[in-house]
Amino acid sequence: MKFHSNKALATDPSLAPLFDTLSSYRDQLGSLAHQTDYLQPESSIQLPGDATLLKKIQETAERLHSPTLQYVVIIGIGGSNLGTQAVYEAIAGSMHLLVDRLPKLLFLDTVTDEKMTAVTRVIEHLTHKEDFLVIVISKSGTTTETIANMEVLWNCTTKQFGDVRERFIFITDEASKLWNAAKEHKMETLSIPTQVGGRFSVFSAVGLLPLALAGINIVELIEGAQRAVADGTSAKMSNNHSLVSACLTYLQLKSGRSIRNTFFFSPKLSALGAWERQLVAESLGKDGKGIMPIISIGSTDLHSMAQLYWGGSDITFTNLVFSFTGAVHRVSQHLALPGLVQHISGTSLEGIMQAIYAGVKAAYEKSARPYVEIDLEQADARELGYYLQFRMIEVMYLGRLLDLNVFDQPAVEMYKSVTRDLLESMHVR
Ligand code: PA5
Repeated sequence: MKFHSNKALATDPSLAPLFDTLSSYRDQLGSLAHQTDYLQPESSIQLPGDATLLKKIQETAERLHSPTLQYVVIIGIGGSNLGTQAVYEAIAGSMHLLVDRLPKLLFLDTVTDEKMTAVTRVIEHLTHKEDFLVIVISKSGTTTETIANMEVLWNCTTKQFGDVRERFIFITDEASKLWNAAKEHKMETLSIPTQVGGRFSVFSAVGLLPLALAGINIVELIEGAQRAVADGTSAKMSNNHSLVSACLTYLQLKSGRSIRNTFFFSPKLSALGAWERQLVAESLGKDGKGIMPIISIGSTDLHSMAQLYWGGSDITFTNLVFSFTGAVHRVSQHLALPGLVQHISGTSLEGIMQAIYAGVKAAYEKSARPYVEIDLEQADARELGYYLQFRMIEVMYLGRLLDLNVFDQPAVEMYKSVTRDLLESMHVR
């Protein structure tokens, strides 16, 4: 991954004091990353270096991957599914359901008849129970949507195949009710280290098991994350993109730009955007503070949001994220309807996108709106591992700068408990 900020941002004299403020925390993260004791709130930084975990996931995936496995249904929401979906869609593509690639990951997050019907129809067409797996992921083990979806799918698959216990895997906290219930019913469980919160858990079993089952190279994913840990705890600022990005974002926030727009120039990165939005919003939106993370997809959103970005209030700091990986399709030299758009004959779709990207950068310069650039290069497992870890460490630095605990989510818990109370009163009636 390459991180680039223009000269005006990179030479801001306010940056150096911020680097100094964060230096002892940076060193603390660096020494934490070399252990696997999972004792601190920042323990997610230890996951990429945990060789025992990696081996366990590889062995589990190999054992669960029957030769006829076609669908792996992931039941989980928020931090329990977004990281997996981000990596999966970035690699399998935004049209992954149409692509000839098995096994496919299917995601059930919110409670909706529409999604559940689609998943149960797909499973109804399967002949053997070995053709599917369900991975139920919940850190707390009591998230209403996740448990309700699990129960519905359990019921459907039991009616069809009889005993489906070995087709359901549970990933949860060892202290959770879900863990105990699954154990009691002799079902397979994998744990999430207690100190690793949902949105920081993508490199635990939460992300690694489903991604390994989907055939994604989790060794490369982890290697990318390890590299981001080394860079993100380095005293060499030209390597430490997490720290630099945190300080730039903080300075923009202080100068009134409370919105951060991450502008991904590829539809296959939109799930990565959803993961990032949750990480930033849930970690930093508290105590009356926060950064409003928004996600845009290029070039689609140029036709919906660009006017506001370059002509509206100057309240947004933009991160342009791109991955130009090589051309497949080209506009023919012999146009079907010549004369409509100049100079596209013979040009690849990728080449057109690169021209659009250059136009976007020029518009940011011309409108004097601040931005940085992130080149995801091949957007392969290694690069994605780097990006995910880079953002998680960045958020930890931002938490320090904003004096916030990035690891809790008290406001989210408010809705969860009210929902449970309402369900209880509805049930009584
Ligand atoms: O990041 C988080 O902690 C949250 O987004 C949770 O992942 C989300 O609320 C789901 O909770 P749980 O994993 O406990 O089911």
